[in-house]
Amino acid sequence: MKPVAQIKQPILKEMERFEEKFKEAMISKVPLLNRITHYIVRRKGKQMRPMFVFLVAKMVSDGKFEERTYRGASVIELIHTATLVHDDVVDDSNRRRGFFSLNALWKNKIAVLVGDFLLSKGLLLSIDNGDFDILRLISVAVREMSEGELLQIEKARKLDITEDIYFEIIRKKTATLIAACCGIGAASVGSSADEVEKMRTFGELIGIAFQIKDDLFDYSDAKIGKPTGIDIKEQKMTLPLIYALNNCKPSEKKWLINSIKNHNKNKKRVKEVIAFVKEKGGIEYTVSKMETYQQQALAILDSYPSSVYKQSLEQMVNYVIERKI
Ligand code: IPE
Ligand code: IPE
Ligand code: MG
Ligand code: MG
Repeated sequence: MKPVAQIKQPILKEMERFEEKFKEAMISKVPLLNRITHYIVRRKGKQMRPMFVFLVAKMVSDGKFEERTYRGASVIELIHTATLVHDDVVDDSNRRRGFFSLNALWKNKIAVLVGDFLLSKGLLLSIDNGDFDILRLISVAVREMSEGELLQIEKARKLDITEDIYFEIIRKKTATLIAACCGIGAASVGSSADEVEKMRTFGELIGIAFQIKDDLFDYSDAKIGKPTGIDIKEQKMTLPLIYALNNCKPSEKKWLINSIKNHNKNKKRVKEVIAFVKEKGGIEYTVSKMETYQQQALAILDSYPSSVYKQSLEQMVNYVIERKI
């Protein structure tokens, strides 16, 4: 069995019901919007975020949950989809989930508006049902994601990123939403504030590992359904490159910075930069950092009694690091 299929075993029925509800949550009276959301639903992603919501909810409540948890999962996936639609505009990327991105098919104007539509649908799903605790968790994540993306742009312009700032960026742009998934999973079944916070921390640790893995993909030729090798072109400096910059001679550093600043659209030069980063051990360093976050996340799960849900969450943590897409 594939790792994801195995992880999903204890929540198979819930994931099926979720897909129906998620589809419903996107309905609009505007035909163009419905065509586009239909396209989005057909090209679904890995759906890891709803899986986190359900598995955490079940782990902390001995397997029981109700509509509130489904709504939490739908809100999260709506917001996630909205941010991907906007991200592909911001990153000028034409592929997503193995096919064309919305901006590639319908242009930026429409993609920006569809992203806003999905975001508002997510927020309204919580508001209309009085899920204000879930709404707070989600809204914090949305604010942090925007801050993270903007911090990333600021650093890409100045090229003065440090390791600490890299971690701040990925915590905000990616980990905060996965933290919200786990926090919402717990909050949706009435967990205490302490437990919600503990699960948020668990999600944040996995989220950081998740984005490090995503950044490692950019240094590979793996077929992951979206472009690789584009971070340097976008002057996005991720951990492998930051490590190389901090561990080379001044003349090499000058060459690296000059490459990123003035030759980032030159494919041959970008390949040379990637090769240099690999030669300096940037990949190994990054993998080891990723593994420290994996271990911290697993340590939090240790405090829970064994259950099929806990087991799936453990497999999920490992999947984040070992995944092929
Ligand atoms: C992609 O997230 C965005 C990042 C935070 C790197 P996923 O890899 O979970 O996207 P889908 O939903 O499976 O396409
Ligand atoms: C992650 O950013 C997406 C968001 C957090 C919105 P990236 O730009 O690094 O992710 P991909 O590689 O396009 O999915
Ligand atoms: Mg981006
Ligand atoms: Mg992107």
